[in-house]
Amino acid sequence: MGDMATLRRLLPTVALLLLLSAAAPSVADDSSAMSDLRDAMSPAPSGWSSSASYCKWDGVNCDSSSRVTSISLASQGLSGTLLPDLSSLSSLRTLSLQKNAFSGAVPNLANLASLQEIYLDNNNFTSVPAGAFAGLTSLQTLSLSNNFNLDPWPIPSELNQSSSLVTFYAGNANVMGTLPDFFGSFPSLQSLRLSYNNLTGPLPPSFAGSGIQNLWLNNQAQGLSGTIDVLSRMPALSQAWLHKNSFTGPIPDLSKCESLFDLQVRDNELTGVMPANLTSLPSLKNVSLDNNKLQGPVPDNPNKIQLTYDGTNSFCNTAPGPCSPQVTTLLEIAGALGYPTTLAESWEGNDACQGWSFVTCQGKNVTSVNFSKQHFAGTISPAFANLTSLRSLLLNDNDLTGSIPDSLAKLPQLQILDVSNNNLSGKVPVFPASVKFTSTGNPLLGKSSSGSGGGGGSGSDANSGSSPSATNGSSVSAGLIAAIVSTVLVFLAIVLFVLYRFCYAKRKNTGIGKGKNLEKGKEVAKVNGMNGHGGVQSEMHSQSSGDLPVFDGGNVAISIDVLRQVTDDFSEANILGRGGFGVVYKGELHDGTMIAVKRMESLAIGNKGLDEFQSELAVLTKVRHRHLVALLGYCINGNERLLVYEHMPQGTLAQHLFECEAMGYPRLTWKQRVTIALDVARGVEYLHSLAQQSFIHRDLKPSNILLGDDMRAKVADFGLVKNAPDGKYSLETRLAGTFGYLAPEYAATGRVTTKVDVYAFGVVLMEILTGRKALDDSLPDDRAHLVTWFRRALINKENIPKAIDQTLNPVDDTLESISKVAELAGHCTAREPFQRPDMGHAVNILSPLVEQWKPSSQEDEDNYGIDLHLSLPQALERWQADEGSTSMFNSSSLSQTQSSIPPKPAYFPDTFNSTDCR
Ligand SMILES: *[C@@H]1O[C@H](CO)[C@@H](O)[C@H](O)[C@H]1NC(C)=O
Ligand SMILES: *[C@@H]1O[C@H](CO)[C@@H](O)[C@H](O)[C@H]1NC(C)=O
Ligand SMILES: *[C@@H]1O[C@H](CO)[C@@H](O)[C@H](O)[C@H]1NC(C)=O
Ligand SMILES: *[C@@H]1O[C@H](CO)[C@@H](O)[C@H](O)[C@H]1NC(C)=O
Ligand SMILES: *[C@@H]1O[C@H](CO)[C@@H](O)[C@H](O)[C@H]1NC(C)=O
Ligand SMILES: *[C@@H]1O[C@H](CO)[C@@H](O)[C@H](O)[C@H]1NC(C)=O
Ligand SMILES: *[C@@H]1O[C@H](CO)[C@@H](O)[C@H](O)[C@H]1NC(C)=O
Repeated sequence: MGDMATLRRLLPTVALLLLLSAAAPSVADDSSAMSDLRDAMSPAPSGWSSSASYCKWDGVNCDSSSRVTSISLASQGLSGTLLPDLSSLSSLRTLSLQKNAFSGAVPNLANLASLQEIYLDNNNFTSVPAGAFAGLTSLQTLSLSNNFNLDPWPIPSELNQSSSLVTFYAGNANVMGTLPDFFGSFPSLQSLRLSYNNLTGPLPPSFAGSGIQNLWLNNQAQGLSGTIDVLSRMPALSQAWLHKNSFTGPIPDLSKCESLFDLQVRDNELTGVMPANLTSLPSLKNVSLDNNKLQGPVPDNPNKIQLTYDGTNSFCNTAPGPCSPQVTTLLEIAGALGYPTTLAESWEGNDACQGWSFVTCQGKNVTSVNFSKQHFAGTISPAFANLTSLRSLLLNDNDLTGSIPDSLAKLPQLQILDVSNNNLSGKVPVFPASVKFTSTGNPLLGKSSSGSGGGGGSGSDANSGSSPSATNGSSVSAGLIAAIVSTVLVFLAIVLFVLYRFCYAKRKNTGIGKGKNLEKGKEVAKVNGMNGHGGVQSEMHSQSSGDLPVFDGGNVAISIDVLRQVTDDFSEANILGRGGFGVVYKGELHDGTMIAVKRMESLAIGNKGLDEFQSELAVLTKVRHRHLVALLGYCINGNERLLVYEHMPQGTLAQHLFECEAMGYPRLTWKQRVTIALDVARGVEYLHSLAQQSFIHRDLKPSNILLGDDMRAKVADFGLVKNAPDGKYSLETRLAGTFGYLAPEYAATGRVTTKVDVYAFGVVLMEILTGRKALDDSLPDDRAHLVTWFRRALINKENIPKAIDQTLNPVDDTLESISKVAELAGHCTAREPFQRPDMGHAVNILSPLVEQWKPSSQEDEDNYGIDLHLSLPQALERWQADEGSTSMFNSSSLSQTQSSIPPKPAYFPDTFNSTDCR
């Protein structure tokens, strides 16, 4: 009785063990690294018993292959010097060692491509080895704050490979050097906290347009310097702590920073007049301005926010209210020069004739201004005209640009005007004969009007031209931008479509390009995704080239450096094809595996577009099917988007159908054609099964059907299309595929539906049957439109042998099969969508035709562990929840599929961390 009970209790465990051992054959495990880690800590963490498997240790989580995915040891009172290298823990996603007393060097974590979170803050580390954070392509959080004894270290430039970074904390960590200008590489970065370090130099221009909300750069030992103009182009900014630095120049117009609630700029060297309404910004709650050299009126405070401006400032009054007209004029003049510090130091108070340097007065009126040899840049303000008593104006030997304002010629008392040795341009005003005017040493002056006349009041305008992002300086809502972008894209796509037809008509049989023609009329961000357990990805896993930091089921960001390397710096020789939105390059991994890299010049789509791009890719890199080309990863490099696909060496179906001679391909046999048609039908059917709420749309045409080594077809080029206003994982409706256009209702409704896909599939079948293009302008009108012509031919079954590709040479037994496909093509292109079959029907018609040739091959199109009852968004949520357990992709259903599809392994081999990943 007791024995039976024990046995019964043990049975599930035994079964589980058997399962586990079956699922994890001879895998490198993490036991030696973990036991070394334990031994390095003192005391050993509680619950890390040497007799138990490391996967059972407290705070350690493993995946189903017993690879460590997280280590959580925060606040355990631990000390010791950690292992120099943890980079063998290749499945590690989270490393939480914060709030202990670890010392010595930070462990090397290079190339841990799954690592998402690193918490090393509040310890006693003493150094950050060079390269420790290289190749962390999934990193989202890096926290190193409060390691007071670190040797000074710069922000590592390799961090720019971590393009998913959301938070970077390294306050009180002895960071030195300048802020690198790589923030364009971090579309997701929200929080940058680097207070209490020794950073120097300017704020990088790439802050502009970044998503940074929380910016803490206060209390640098020596001080950051330069202007803070870039803040005006950081629309997401909510908290800016810049106090205790050496910033100069004026506070810029922050009206675009609608979320800004906390602005701390005290204890700098800021100058100039506050922008109008600064203190009325909608979200603003706290502002500190103390101990700067701010000028002009004291800011008023209508909303009673917490506002301080004490200390050394140079305001004209002690309470809010306008400055005197002469002071206002002089401050406007200073503003055109960017409010130089030398002026701000003495131009204080409300009487310019009391101790202001560079000006002399008679009574209360300014009569001369002498700015000679002050290294002033900027422009000559037209406001000089308001100094009506001015007799002498010396501006010589500076770096002034722009033109000489006409208003200067109206100064009634002017006797001397010297503008020599600057960089002025434009036409010279006509001065009265009484004015002694000197202008030598301005090579462009009097030549042509190259310029911006006198400057305006705000020096902050001077630098605002260099905004690198589309979101900069725009108050248009993101939604509106998206709408505009998609309108432009639709327009482009229509142009491309017209060009496509035009080129086909012109080029006829000349063949296109040297390789695959991945011609696309396609919205940029709406990339085609693809899938499949195609040879490439599997080889990358099993042979572990180390080139691509692909990880299981992840959202695979790949560094531009890797892509440059494998495509030989995008050399011409590696071009596979060119499409409307980019060029496709062939790339070779170190083990010889080929990949295809599509490099798209994108319109700057801003952060919202980027988010959508990434969430779409998150879906598309996870969808897996043997008849869909695999999307292996992506790269965001500035405005460029690169997509990495499995390489399909046999080119496109279009090449085999229409250009086979030019390309040196043999004609496709009927058997090959039907097999390809079935492959495509299955791929599309699979997509339809996923697309219960969101549509998955493809450009279904022969140039987007790619052929592998074995001439099996995969659908390339599909993306998600929103069909509901709240469709979360999809972008704006984009163009239907070229063939989708041909569907009658598409023109009327513009809607992408599964029935539009069925129509497009019917057109593909017709091309397969006839060897002719859907649109061939070189033919007489009555034959140019394949669908119309072929459907007419179908009316009488006897016409079929004449209508099909004559090289097929039909004999009786193939003719029957050809007739069935022809009939299916007619059915799929029925005028009314409801009359068209669904893809399942097409699969049912085609599969017996293929099986007649290979009766032994039992095509078992598995759903690869995806629950088809879930909508796509639900499926995505499920996959995200499953992340970490690899249940989806290593499910037994997958490994049971045909041997021609090597299953995706459930883990990454150690060798994946080869230094090649850098
Ligand atoms: C940190 O390390 C230094 C030596 O590098 C040592 O003097 C100090 O006591 C340590 N501090 C803590 C909190 O462990
Ligand atoms: C800050 O860094 C500069 C070099 O950039 C160095 O000269 C200075 O001593 C450092 N200051 C502190 C407090 O570490
Ligand atoms: C400042 O605010 C006032 C009213 O609050 C408004 O009329 C004015 O246009 C604003 N000025 C600027 C430059 O935004
Ligand atoms: C911001 O203002 C709140 C009160 O409005 C205050 O409690 C808080 O300390 C302020 N923060 C800073 C950084 O001054
Ligand atoms: C100062 O200028 C005003 C006009 O702007 C004029 O009326 C006045 O006479 C001037 N005073 C002197 C001393 O020139
Ligand atoms: C000059 O002064 C007048 C009134 O004193 C004022 O309206 C005008 O805006 C000023 N012009 C400039 C360019 O400062
Ligand atoms: C990252 O920085 C390195 C060195 O600064 C540079 O060569 C590389 O192009 C950058 N990569 C990206 C993705 O920006």
